[in-house]
Amino acid sequence: MESCSHIAVASLLLPLLLGLSLLFRQIDAEVQYHDFVVQATPVKRLCKAHNIITVNGQFPGPTIEVKNGDTLVINVVNRARYNVTLHWHGVRQMRTAWADGPEFVTQCPIRPGGSYTYRFTIEGQEGTLWWHAHSSWLRATVYGALIIHPKENSSYPFTEPKREVPVILGEWWDRNPIDVVREATRTGAAPNISDAFTINGQPGDLYNCSNKDTTVIPVKAGETNLLRFINAALNTELFVAIANHKMTVVSADASYTKPFTTSVLMLGPGQTTDVLVTMDQPASRYYIAARAYASAQGVAFDNTTTTAILEYDCGCSEPGQGIPPVFPALPAYNDTGAASAFSAGLRSLSTVDIPGPVDENLFFTVGLGLFNCPPGKTCGGPNNTRMAASINNASFVLPDTYSILQAHYQRVPGVFTTDFPAVPPVQFDYTAQNVSRSLWQPVAATKVYKLKYGSVVQLVLQGTNIFAAENHPIHIHGYDFYILAEGFGNFNAAKDNAKFNLVDPPMRNTVGVPVSGWAVIRFAADNPGVWLMHCHLDVHITWGLAMAFLVEDGVGELQSLEEPPVDLPVC
Ligand code: C2O
Repeated sequence: MESCSHIAVASLLLPLLLGLSLLFRQIDAEVQYHDFVVQATPVKRLCKAHNIITVNGQFPGPTIEVKNGDTLVINVVNRARYNVTLHWHGVRQMRTAWADGPEFVTQCPIRPGGSYTYRFTIEGQEGTLWWHAHSSWLRATVYGALIIHPKENSSYPFTEPKREVPVILGEWWDRNPIDVVREATRTGAAPNISDAFTINGQPGDLYNCSNKDTTVIPVKAGETNLLRFINAALNTELFVAIANHKMTVVSADASYTKPFTTSVLMLGPGQTTDVLVTMDQPASRYYIAARAYASAQGVAFDNTTTTAILEYDCGCSEPGQGIPPVFPALPAYNDTGAASAFSAGLRSLSTVDIPGPVDENLFFTVGLGLFNCPPGKTCGGPNNTRMAASINNASFVLPDTYSILQAHYQRVPGVFTTDFPAVPPVQFDYTAQNVSRSLWQPVAATKVYKLKYGSVVQLVLQGTNIFAAENHPIHIHGYDFYILAEGFGNFNAAKDNAKFNLVDPPMRNTVGVPVSGWAVIRFAADNPGVWLMHCHLDVHITWGLAMAFLVEDGVGELQSLEEPPVDLPVC
């Protein structure tokens, strides 16, 4: 009898408790509102005045800080003279692909004078992400940090740092970057290389007229601080080091890693890396320096070095008596060994449950190419060609009448096709010294690869030596993936499958596919929508190094794409 009444009480209490906990969850999670006004803003850099496009007049743009579980509502008003969209790089956007941002993929651009409100919830993510414009080359100046703190009553899986500092690496052109890419698109030539790199918007001491604005990060002896590095550069992978200080990597692309200590980081554009640094050196000034990892041989790159100063509370920077900061050792520009050693050091914090078994075995070649010059024209690329890039020989072309997501949702025909090839149309020795010229010309098209909801995808990303082999930072929108293995040469399942880390592979949203090499990634297609995958070197997106996954709706209640927002821009 007694036990019966207990059950009766429990059956009444349980829903009540559940209801209460749901209520508290909602109280705990916040909704943050922001107004982002995209506008032209005067700034002075490298001895000249420039009128750059910014958000709210800030460069870099505003830092967004949220907690895991919070919702963001960001009203973007376009007061600039260019079309614009914003992308929340690395945010999973579960069921909210409409808020993802790549122009003509998930939305039409916000026209000058227009506006659009991005609404999305951060679910199960913690760490450093960022946001940037996803239209032409606007992200050269339109970007900022997006920091996700653990939920209330939850904490980092490492010692609480004393200070947390975003360190955003950028890339600067003296010319208007939109003019730089427009000229390149017109002629078919490679666009001009940049004039500087920046840390938190400033080039630093090694550039002309930049000295007094160098970014300074104040610290105190004995502290352990968290530096949140973000590579927001357009076209350059970067090595980073701090003079006399070791860095302990604790997170990459907003996924925690097993702590590993290193003196140098390598970040491809799009990637983030959080490091703990203990201020264990004599109170003084130390440079944080970054410069190119230029993996393509014989290709021009910006070989300048950006610096910021880590400054101890030592009174050593008083005007007139500032002591010169110590300079760190950086790897050589072409030090692929240093880049590989860094990526090999990354592992997930704990043992992971890798999605499997694999439903889709995909093999994508990624690399450059050349288009023949249209008859009767002159082209600026090598030997009168136009520069190109492709995945599985398909050079991606953005539509312009509908976004792919809208065309999918409203079943508009003729905007894209679903025949993106699962394997290269022609198999060849991808990393041979001399790939036959007959394989250099891709086919321009807007093709997507369809995935069933929930299917498990294993994707081999195979770099090619066509035109120039290079490390490509490949990013997938709306997803994180496990990096099972990386290597050089051609991927060979018979021997390379044995190298897969199925225990604690790192999870990222952007993988640097080694130069003349490959990377294997795995993810479950649990987020319906249209998701762009591309090289995060903007010059390569411009040339077509992109494709999109179309993930179909599932059958469950929370397995389908939400309805489009009412203010979604039209083309
Ligand atoms: Cu950082 Cu397509 O994005």
